[in-house]
Amino acid sequence: MRSIVSVVTGGGKGIGLGIAEALVRRGASVAVTYRSDKDAAKRALHRLKSLTAQGQGVLLLQGDVGDPETVADHYQRVREELGPVTVLVNNAGIMPQRSMEALSVEDWEATIRVNLSGAFFWCKQVVGDMKEARFGRIVNISSIAARGGGVVGPHYAASKAGLLGLTRYAARELAPYGITVNAIAPAFIEDAGIFSDWSDHKKAELRKKVVVPRLGTVQDVVRAFEYLLDSPFVTGVTLDLNGGAFMI
Ligand SMILES: NC(=O)c1ccc[n+]([C@@H]2O[C@H](COP(=O)([O-])OP(=O)(O)OC[C@H]3O[C@@H](n4cnc5c(N)ncnc54)[C@H](OP(=O)(O)O)[C@@H]3O)[C@@H](O)[C@H]2O)c1
Repeated sequence: MRSIVSVVTGGGKGIGLGIAEALVRRGASVAVTYRSDKDAAKRALHRLKSLTAQGQGVLLLQGDVGDPETVADHYQRVREELGPVTVLVNNAGIMPQRSMEALSVEDWEATIRVNLSGAFFWCKQVVGDMKEARFGRIVNISSIAARGGGVVGPHYAASKAGLLGLTRYAARELAPYGITVNAIAPAFIEDAGIFSDWSDHKKAELRKKVVVPRLGTVQDVVRAFEYLLDSPFVTGVTLDLNGGAFMI
């Protein structure tokens, strides 16, 4: 693998941390961002540093991915401390569960800002480096909610569907520079995010939605990410990881 500097937003835990670990194992330098869970972020930093065997850098950055100035500051720090960025994983996301009627305008705007605008803010920062390198990988973590609506609410489904539009547009524009842009649409990842503290009973209910005999894991997402990392001829696609709960 060429010398890689990567950014994983929301890499302090869950799916993002799994992806950051895979990058470090491959010899990449990694910057992970997080919002508020300092303890988890410290554990993540410790974990990532323990995996570095090839002298690469690991950087932890706190701040809101939905704020363009924070993202610009983070990007500058990554560039100064690790170098130009050629792998970006837009993973940070929030998922407050609300029905259409209960959803406030503030919740709508916050979810779009973090889940969708944050991905755009980061893309905008890193494309120059990727074009310069004539190589880049952007992977956007969407959701089954972009496909079938999901159960979190209209704000979440719209933010995740918006990511697919961003993915396809960016894939088309950036392909001539050796940059691929793809999305992963997971469902029911039992060891990350909202499902990780669900009871066995509730997980058994979830299992009825998939056709394979188990729920998803962070490693399922990591495997899909690594496939996209290694696949220069794959761009503009959405990899559905949902145990057959939604088929297209
Ligand atoms: N778990 C699933 O089954 C599932 C299914 C489909 C899609 N996804 C998507 O996968 C992605 C990762 O989810 P996960 O399950 O791994 O969730 P998670 O464990 O809750 O991790 C989310 C990460 O995003 C960070 N984050 C949240 N808001 C942020 C903000 N405003 N600025 C910067 N970072 C922020 C969090 O930081 P703090 O904790 O410090 O706030 C955390 O590091 C999300 O986009 C989610 O929508 C997950």
